[in-house]
Amino acid sequence: MGRRCWRRRVLAAACLGAALLLLCAAPRALRPAFGNTALGSSWLGGERRSPLQKLYDLDQNRRLRAYLAFLFVREPFERLASAYRNKLARPYSPAFQRRYGARIVQRLRPRALPDARARGHDVRFAEFLAYLLDPRTRREEPFNEHWERAHALCHPCRLRYDVVGKFETLAEDAAFVLGLVGAPGLSFPGPPRPRGAAASRDLAARLFRDISPFYQRRLFDLYKMDFLLFNYSAPSYLRLH
Ligand SMILES: *[C@@H]1O[C@H](CO)[C@@H](O)[C@H](O)[C@H]1NC(C)=O
Repeated sequence: MGRRCWRRRVLAAACLGAALLLLCAAPRALRPAFGNTALGSSWLGGERRSPLQKLYDLDQNRRLRAYLAFLFVREPFERLASAYRNKLARPYSPAFQRRYGARIVQRLRPRALPDARARGHDVRFAEFLAYLLDPRTRREEPFNEHWERAHALCHPCRLRYDVVGKFETLAEDAAFVLGLVGAPGLSFPGPPRPRGAAASRDLAARLFRDISPFYQRRLFDLYKMDFLLFNYSAPSYLRLH
């Protein structure tokens, strides 16, 4: 597909790992929203509808046909480890701890102290994993997007993504996508962290080390489709056999 054709496509949406990150470069449809080079600055500056909401105003079939669609994925267990650390481990996110942590403690920790039941501030990684594997969890509501499987969030088997990028090569892949869109003045925010990749792997390895092979296997099964679809190999620290 030639560059001209790529350029006719007007928008790019991405699921980045945990969060649904909308990175959009919109030469035509959304240009007014991006009056200057800061992404979405007019939205932050008080305009009521976000670029994402404007996107939804448009006809869906046209969007699916005409837009550059891209998806960013992350190694599933590094993503889980990161979600645990950022959302449930102390001292990062009291709102998440009250919403999910308290539920995890109440459901899964026998004889929990009242403080922990109310605040959900000291959930252990093993408890978080047990919560993910508990069939009640998904019966009650879909997984939060920070730990929902990427294939269930972004439906790569039903939507035709033009590009699948990876968190592990984020700067490079983001530059590629922005190049396809051909949006001048846009660059991916945030410099690459030199030791980030190793730190992310180490965190996952450290957290999973204390998890029994039985739970490691079950968790691998839960996230297996993401490993397979996005070409991640089973982490070497797992004891799957
Ligand atoms: C899948 O991963 C392997 C090993 O990491 C790599 O050599 C190969 O090119 C990848 N395949 C695709 C389609 O990305």
